[in-house]
Amino acid sequence: MAQVVWITGASSGLGLHTAQALARHGFTVAAGARSFGRGKTAAGCLCLPLDVTSPESIDAFVSQALKAYGPPDILVNCAGMLILGACESYSPEELRQVMETNFFSQAAMISRVLPFMREKGKGRIVNFSSINGLLGIPFEGAYTASKHAIEGYSECLSYEVKRFGIEIMLVEPGDHRSGSSAYRKHAAGMTSDSPYKAAFDAGTARIAQDEQNGSDPDALGEKIVQALKKKRLPRRLRVAKPDQHLAVILHDILPPALFDRIIGPYYS
Ligand SMILES: NC(=O)c1ccc[n+]([C@@H]2O[C@H](COP(=O)([O-])OP(=O)(O)OC[C@H]3O[C@@H](n4cnc5c(N)ncnc54)[C@H](OP(=O)(O)O)[C@@H]3O)[C@@H](O)[C@H]2O)c1
Repeated sequence: MAQVVWITGASSGLGLHTAQALARHGFTVAAGARSFGRGKTAAGCLCLPLDVTSPESIDAFVSQALKAYGPPDILVNCAGMLILGACESYSPEELRQVMETNFFSQAAMISRVLPFMREKGKGRIVNFSSINGLLGIPFEGAYTASKHAIEGYSECLSYEVKRFGIEIMLVEPGDHRSGSSAYRKHAAGMTSDSPYKAAFDAGTARIAQDEQNGSDPDALGEKIVQALKKKRLPRRLRVAKPDQHLAVILHDILPPALFDRIIGPYYS
């Protein structure tokens, strides 16, 4: 029988490509996103409205997905957003919005599926992190904090739920040419008189350029499917270009001051 997948953030970018890849490979997919309530769809998937920051919306998604396909074998937590800005410029609300969307929502979805998976004695949870879950870059402070949070949380979770036959995989994408600019806001505090403005403009231009030249989002969807077909789920799936793999390795082995001398000029 086809495995049932619940996937969040499936209306755009990597979530959309992953949901459609799963459907193409015969998984039964219940896909959630806010814009599914506004007419958007993902090919081959049951598209349900879902705001991952709203407990009521999560309740409605869970009951509709259960009614349609029964409990999930797999959860893919992909919904995410970015607010670019200097750390000093973020309002508390902006920081909370990023943490709510990228971290608390994943924890909330996980808590909803674990009872079903524990009862079945098996299950798989795929949490979208990022290369930014492993290292920081300028002007992505809120996003990087949220991705570091899901890295740590997933590692702890995986130790805890192994005994119930449940496996966790972190997906750590590098830049992919998929993301919609609608989800890359600028912090309201990044005004034209900000002392960070010139550095911010240079850094965000580099970030946008890296995304435009990024990897193929369809290939990432396929890699997730292939990982889910394996007998044992990998703990981490890092999908990045060689220079981004190298950046993670250098970040871990070089003295911080030396690493800063490489990364700093790249974003200036
Ligand atoms: N693109 C990249 O280069 C890249 C690199 C590393 C990691 N990632 C990670 O991959 C994931 C997808 O990013 P992306 O850039 O490919 O996609 P994206 O185009 O930025 O789309 C974001 C998705 O998240 C959904 N979303 C945002 N807020 C939501 C909310 N409150 N409730 C439900 N859904 C919500 C959006 O759907 P609605 O607006 O319809 O709700 C949309 O489907 C994210 O977790 C991101 O951090 C992406």
